[in-house]
Amino acid sequence: MRDLPPGPREPSALQTVEWIVRPTALLRRAQARYGEPFTLRTAYSDAPLVLVSDPVEIKRIYSAPPDVLQGGDASAFLEPFTGKRSVLILHGEEHLRQRRLMLPPFHGEALKRWKDTVAEITHAELDTWRSGELLKTLPRMQAITLEVIQRVIFGSRDLELRDALRRALDLTGSMPDLVWMSLFGPHQRFTRAVERIDELIYARIDSAGGGDSILDMLKASGATREELRDQLVTLLAAGHETTATALAWALERLARHPETDLSDDARLDAAIREVLRTRPVLSITARKTLQPYRIGAYTLPQDVYVAACLYLAHRRAGTTFDPTRPASEEPYSFIPFGGGTRRCLGAAFALLEMREVIRAVTQRFTLAPDRPRGERMRRRSVVLAPSRQGSIIPTAR
Ligand code: HEM
Repeated sequence: MRDLPPGPREPSALQTVEWIVRPTALLRRAQARYGEPFTLRTAYSDAPLVLVSDPVEIKRIYSAPPDVLQGGDASAFLEPFTGKRSVLILHGEEHLRQRRLMLPPFHGEALKRWKDTVAEITHAELDTWRSGELLKTLPRMQAITLEVIQRVIFGSRDLELRDALRRALDLTGSMPDLVWMSLFGPHQRFTRAVERIDELIYARIDSAGGGDSILDMLKASGATREELRDQLVTLLAAGHETTATALAWALERLARHPETDLSDDARLDAAIREVLRTRPVLSITARKTLQPYRIGAYTLPQDVYVAACLYLAHRRAGTTFDPTRPASEEPYSFIPFGGGTRRCLGAAFALLEMREVIRAVTQRFTLAPDRPRGERMRRRSVVLAPSRQGSIIPTAR
């Protein structure tokens, strides 16, 4: 029995830079050269990162009991932003308690009341689009999804908080800042941006109460100010950056595939599925081994990260964008929202939001690419975004 699968031999600092600058090339190259599983080493942690894309192994990872594989720890590098009481970072009982509290407003019937809000915010944004002119969709989609999540959480929008959040997130999206902070930790400009967010969030927390917003509900649950701060920052960031990136990819893909039929909900959903499959917003979901863990011929020691690689898992069905492709019947082969007890708690909400935004955009505009060649997947903080920010030319219908 061997301990760790093989992987690139470069020092961890170099692998970190490649993970940031050419993430998909690194994943493809390591898989082609070493097969699966393979091991990467990054500066985020001393623990090696073992990756798999086989649905059978992915199912085992997502179903492993919490005393075997632990979530949360792998997201610890987000702590300077989300805080240590974030649902992304907690584990065990405390994580489940927070999850149970936060899940209901993003599920089932509770969701439906947001449909019209999303459409209304999208149409206000579309009123500003100029027919026939080049448009970078990523910042426009960020504006829509940040306003939506603010309305959901607070019941109203907050322009100052919006600007403060975007300032911090844009720093993590800038390549030089990201490389610096990944190797050496958060720098002063980032810390200051987070302090400004805290000031504004604490003001909202202190004045909340009595209403039916998510903040009112969380506050009524007896959470401390600090807990509330961490959950709100998590929801605001995780709840808009990911969806905006998926939407920018959707418009980038649809502009290059004008034949895509979006005439009913089933076809719209199939197109969204194919966007999330071929351009997954997050490339991996990692868990930490709390005891030796077997993968194929290897028995990984304790304190190693083991990750489902969404990017490689989704490529197994093919790499071309084909919205007529039937949904895969193989469990755990399509996992854009991860799985198990840490599966994305905003998945249903994100799908509702994507549906409404794409429907509104394509009702009012035809989309064309500004260049024939599709955009590359480029890292912006934790997400993989279109390299030219989803550039399209919309023409009013
Ligand atoms: C297209 C949009 C989105 C994508 C692709 C996405 C993807 C993901 C993925 C892959 C995970 C990790 C799952 C795992 O480790 O197994 C995750 C976790 C999470 N997501 Fe999303 N997400 C999206 C939208 C949202 C939205 C809209 C919200 C909030 C309203 C949200 C809130 C969260 C939270 C709180 C977690 C942590 C869950 C936990 O650790 O228990 N996400 N998301």
